[in-house]
Amino acid sequence: MIDTPRTSHEPRTPGRRGRSALRNALVVGATLALAAAGTVTALTGTASAASTLAGAAAEQGRYFGTAIAAGRMGESDYMSVLNREFDSITAENAMKWDALQPSRNSFNFSTADRIANHARSQGMKLRGHTLVWHSQLPSWVTSLSTNDLRSTMNNHINRVMGQYKGQVHSWDVVNEAFEDGSSGARRNSVFQQRLGNGFIEEAFRTARAADPDAKLCYNDYNTDNWNHAKTQAVYNMVRDFKSRGVPIDCVGFQAHFNSGNPVPSNYHTTLQNFADLGVDVQITELDIAGSGSSQAEQFKGVTQACLAVSRCTGITVWGVTDKYSWRSSDTPLLFDGNYNKKPAYQGVMEALGGSDGGGTTGGTDGGTDGGTTGGGDTASCTVTYEQTERWGDRFNGRVTVRAGSAPITNWSTTVTVSSPQKISATWNGTPSWDSSGNVMTMRPSGNGTLAAGSSTSFGFTVMANGNWNAPRLGSCTAS
Ligand code: XIL
Repeated sequence: MIDTPRTSHEPRTPGRRGRSALRNALVVGATLALAAAGTVTALTGTASAASTLAGAAAEQGRYFGTAIAAGRMGESDYMSVLNREFDSITAENAMKWDALQPSRNSFNFSTADRIANHARSQGMKLRGHTLVWHSQLPSWVTSLSTNDLRSTMNNHINRVMGQYKGQVHSWDVVNEAFEDGSSGARRNSVFQQRLGNGFIEEAFRTARAADPDAKLCYNDYNTDNWNHAKTQAVYNMVRDFKSRGVPIDCVGFQAHFNSGNPVPSNYHTTLQNFADLGVDVQITELDIAGSGSSQAEQFKGVTQACLAVSRCTGITVWGVTDKYSWRSSDTPLLFDGNYNKKPAYQGVMEALGGSDGGGTTGGTDGGTDGGTTGGGDTASCTVTYEQTERWGDRFNGRVTVRAGSAPITNWSTTVTVSSPQKISATWNGTPSWDSSGNVMTMRPSGNGTLAAGSSTSFGFTVMANGNWNAPRLGSCTAS
């Protein structure tokens, strides 16, 4: 990996499939461009997928996802960070029972479809959440008789999984079916009351038939500490399912942590013990109340615990930005309300070995050096891309350049288009070109001063010539 000090890479790749192939292609392309230009100053560095959460996780063979709220999809900063940083999406609410089947046999997929379509258009994975859950369940379900409830549950699974068949990598088939506390008992939900213990098994069998390619997960919270009764109860259920051939592929750990429920020191043990039953494990709804280096250490520790378990296939955080978190007063996420990366972000990147982690890569010490995760105050900038218009032969793109935690006086960044695409116009910047004409280096038109955290943008028109791929951003360099 080529390291460029005081530089932050924020590539926007056209899709997440073959991400490292793309990165390699970009590195090769940039190298060729350098050779052709005969200079090493024409470009500011090679874009590296490892400067985003998804890119760095992909280098470790994992996905890095987030929950998203359909109602926020019109906000451009929200979408830029989503598209830049994550390669898996969970609908925060849009695939729950009350959203999809608000009244009996009347399904409404429009909002969930928007989320699924966005994931597909970005080459992102989609996590399905959730089919059978006592919460966000319409009241008409709770008044059904046993037989009606059984057929209704199976019908719901079939219809919803059918709608997204082939698109969902993992489904939370059953969510939160166990009690908290020391009893280890099943939760006294309407499903449990009417259908008994067997409802969980029945839901998984129905789900397997509905979409044989989706991984089927049991998902819960407070199952992180190996010594807790609830953890043991879920473990025993999964062991029983595996021994009897009940189809289950994964266990989701929601991972909503706060000071009363901190990341347990035996988290790795818990994940490994479940994995040893022959299921994948996934961190599915991660958020951790707090701030600063203590929050960063905990995020780092959770990430390290996942990386230490080969069957821990990915991490999903429960939202993009603190301001829209379901518990926003806890500021539990990786981006603050202005979409700045928090120390928590750096903590995750340190664990993933990404290039935004303050230089500490591959640490295995359980997160005790989280104090190095502050943003620093050297000049830096990040870049994000979005398409703003599209016509039959061309599209317009906008790149937003944002200063990091220190003010900057100048910046430059690169935009690479794929032949036979050609950039035919630019505005709000001063472009220069490599000899291939595919790599544009953009600098400010006039004064490049930006206050800490503030942004400017430039635009350009790409003649598609049949290729509609999004341009790739290189690094942003600031002084
Ligand atoms: C939460 C959402 O984040 C909120 O917007 C909603 O009001 C309530 O549900 N466990 C889960 C998630 O499995 O679906 C929950 O999501 C958080 C707890």
